[in-house]
Amino acid sequence: MQEDLQRILVSRSEIATRIESLGQQITRDLEADGLGSDEITLVPILTGSIIFVSDLIRCLPLRMQIHVMSVTSYPGTSTTSRGAKLDPTGTQVPGDLSGRHVLVMDDILDSGNTLRLVKQELEARGPASVRTCVMLRKQRPEAMAFDVDYIAFDIPDEFVVGYGLDYDDYYRNLPDIAVLKPDVIQQGGAD
Ligand code: IMP
Ligand code: MG
Repeated sequence: MQEDLQRILVSRSEIATRIESLGQQITRDLEADGLGSDEITLVPILTGSIIFVSDLIRCLPLRMQIHVMSVTSYPGTSTTSRGAKLDPTGTQVPGDLSGRHVLVMDDILDSGNTLRLVKQELEARGPASVRTCVMLRKQRPEAMAFDVDYIAFDIPDEFVVGYGLDYDDYYRNLPDIAVLKPDVIQQGGAD
């Protein structure tokens, strides 16, 4: 696995430090908004957010329920979004979210298609509020234009793997966030 990497973009220790400060920031903000004693509904977007979410929620000392939502956009070996689609069989979010404060967590903001779809799906369920949080935001115009509430890191517009992010469903278990060697990526995608 290591031999496929061109370089580490964000190291495991940088991630750990940032997750802790992000957790404190989110907790402070929610408490300042009077939500400290309210219940939060956390919505992790599968599959890429799993490691980010598992680390960040342990820095959020809030009463919360967790309901996953499954969205696919980068099938197989593609490295560009093919349009976001909700997968109802992998989605546990209740149909009625009235009165709930929702915090969506995703791995990366790229074209913005995923978060746009997820926000629409959640807002249709009547929640009191919807906030969004991503581990990474790519510095490309579509991502920068999307109004996201929390970002752990801004990164260059490159295809990255690790810490939950995959290429063809591999590399999610890398502890660091890395760029793959160009010859590992199949030209044009093969899905
Ligand atoms: P968006 O819908 O284009 O914003 O992309 C969001 C989804 O695409 C993420 O949740 C990831 O699953 C996937 N994705 C986007 N960029 C990358 C990347 O650089 N590496 C791996 N997956 C990515
Ligand atoms: Mg993915």
